[in-house]
Amino acid sequence: MSSAKHWPYSLALITGASSGLGRALAIEIAKRGTPLILTGRNKKELELTARMLSVKTTLLPLDLNDPQERQKLIALIHNQAPDLILNNAGLGHYGDALTTTTAEQLEIIEVNITALVEITLEASRTLIKQKKQGTVLNVASAAAFFPYPTLATYAASKAFVLQFSRALDVELFPHGVRVLTSCTGQTATSFRARAGSNTPQKKDAWTMRVQDVVCLILKQIENLTPVRIIDGRYRFWVALAHLVPKSILMSFLKRSIRKRHNRKEIV
Ligand SMILES: NC(=O)c1ccc[n+]([C@@H]2O[C@H](COP(=O)([O-])OP(=O)(O)OC[C@H]3O[C@@H](n4cnc5c(N)ncnc54)[C@H](OP(=O)(O)O)[C@@H]3O)[C@@H](O)[C@H]2O)c1
Repeated sequence: MSSAKHWPYSLALITGASSGLGRALAIEIAKRGTPLILTGRNKKELELTARMLSVKTTLLPLDLNDPQERQKLIALIHNQAPDLILNNAGLGHYGDALTTTTAEQLEIIEVNITALVEITLEASRTLIKQKKQGTVLNVASAAAFFPYPTLATYAASKAFVLQFSRALDVELFPHGVRVLTSCTGQTATSFRARAGSNTPQKKDAWTMRVQDVVCLILKQIENLTPVRIIDGRYRFWVALAHLVPKSILMSFLKRSIRKRHNRKEIV
């Protein structure tokens, strides 16, 4: 990892730090000496993350899908005012929206959107009230740029994250708070298995290593880049896809995800 260019942070909060990108981000941020607050549902996996770190770490196991449980995190944010906030927790389900329950689809919105908005607003408000500067980095997806049949709610939730974060960055810039968005492409984490894939995350030209993605996210934070599509292959693909008629694009996207899971009936 490159040495830190712009790293003034005194306390970082990472959601979804019990696996994948969140855990790897915690490890790299700890190497920079920044104390951490880590959340996720799986307490054992969160403790495993904490054992890999050599900085002061506060663990807060909780379900972001539960508005009441989220208040524990909001109280901690009010109390400790983290100045680097990584809204990384997220989930999706492969398949037509009606092949999972409405509750499962609403969970995507609650975690990917509602919890992210609540944490972003409360963390920013706290920093500004305390006359502190800080950065929020919201993890979206390269899928944020498209209507995505078989990943409809997930892609739409990430489109929300992208547009919300871009607009808020302009609003909060004069107050010394930045809101950045990382639009990551396919990465080798447990996301795919959890989304209901029946094909393991295989090594292919489109699947990025967690370490590489984390390195690019940290560079984005150092450079305070408002929006970054990770990586160059996905930047090219997003640019190209804007030139293709939406009907052709959606048919291609649908086929690409359908290969990964067994078709299910409407529930
Ligand atoms: N991997 C990819 O291909 C890819 C591509 C684009 C964008 N992303 C985005 O990257 C972010 C990180 O995902 P990942 O790839 O690292 O996947 P992952 O390994 O499945 O990690 C997801 C994290 O989110 C947490 N989470 C999920 N639901 C939660 C809930 N209800 N309450 C609290 N925490 C919850 C999980 O914690 P628990 O298990 O402890 O609940 C876990 O730590 C997500 O926002 C995802 O949408 C991933």
